[in-house]
Amino acid sequence: MQVTIDGRAQHFRTVAFAPTRNEVRLIEQRLLPHEFKVIGTHDFRETARAIRDMVVRGAGAIGATAAYGLAQGALAFRGHHLPRFEAHLTCVFETLRDARPTAVDPVNAMLEVRRKMQAATTVADQQALALTAAEEFADEAVAHCRALGEVGVSLIREGMRVLTHCNAGWLAFVDIGSATAPLYAAHQQGRAFHVYCDETRPRSQGATLTAWELAQQGLAHQVIADNAAGLLFSRGQIDLVIVGSDRTLGRSGEVANKIGTYTKAVLAKRHGVPFYVAIPLSTLDWNLPDGAAIPLEERDAAEVLGAWGLTQSGQREYVRVANPSSGAYNPGFDVTPPELITGIITPAGIFRPQDLWQNRSLLGG
Ligand code: MRU
Repeated sequence: MQVTIDGRAQHFRTVAFAPTRNEVRLIEQRLLPHEFKVIGTHDFRETARAIRDMVVRGAGAIGATAAYGLAQGALAFRGHHLPRFEAHLTCVFETLRDARPTAVDPVNAMLEVRRKMQAATTVADQQALALTAAEEFADEAVAHCRALGEVGVSLIREGMRVLTHCNAGWLAFVDIGSATAPLYAAHQQGRAFHVYCDETRPRSQGATLTAWELAQQGLAHQVIADNAAGLLFSRGQIDLVIVGSDRTLGRSGEVANKIGTYTKAVLAKRHGVPFYVAIPLSTLDWNLPDGAAIPLEERDAAEVLGAWGLTQSGQREYVRVANPSSGAYNPGFDVTPPELITGIITPAGIFRPQDLWQNRSLLGG
């Protein structure tokens, strides 16, 4: 998307690759909204750390990062011995996969790169194919998000008040975003509407990242505390909810997404407000039987017990908020059942979650 810094507009992708330096290029999302900076990672372990430590985050963005990280790991291999190359790739794959367990996009992205590499029979040819395949994955991810905008735009009507949770915007993808794609498309068509961004504690991706994105693109919006949504629903101040997903189960229609998504889905159902989930095809998991099998990440207690912010002198600093002797439990994601979801917006159309399985041939399953 276009980013305007100091009055200068420039187009950026969240994730890119510099082949001459074998470097994955990432927007340092932990600094936003205070500072816009692109950093490079120089080997697959550093790339995995960037995923784990949330330099880059969001299912689609970590999917593309893992695809590039696999290519980066493949390109760093020296030698011609195919079995040793295969063993090295298994290590790269597992390191990147284990960096964050809940989103399925990194696994789907790397399996796609591995599948395309199989067309070659030498190490050198597989290395070349790895990079091409990672670039193709990133390009396809952008095309899918563009299609989400085209499919979902008719849901956004003039004057609507739309609630979104966490950041399922372009920062969570390579470009455009999933939940934000219909919003950006409607904005481009000149429709006026208002977006409420759930703050999304504990890491506040709604308040920091989604709000920054929407401000950059000129969309009317306000941040609300997570606890405020119930009041807004009860007063009829929310007309539509759109969120993203880190893993959507093709078999059961359950949706894993940022902690607090389930709460909003329950509220939407209670108040008769349509609740949509927007996903590219790389977010679909056709294997797991049900939501209980989804590995839900548990994160550091420090995220709940305090917060990061900018001091008056411009330093990024962590401050402790909670009682000093208390601990915290910090599940990062929850699972929303299909009966609370009005529709899943995909690049191939909008489906009831219960109908994903029967439409799997359309959806890449
Ligand atoms: O922990 P994060 O910031 O990676 O979580 C991101 C979300 O849960 C988004 O809402 C999600 O990735 C869906 S859109 C990619």
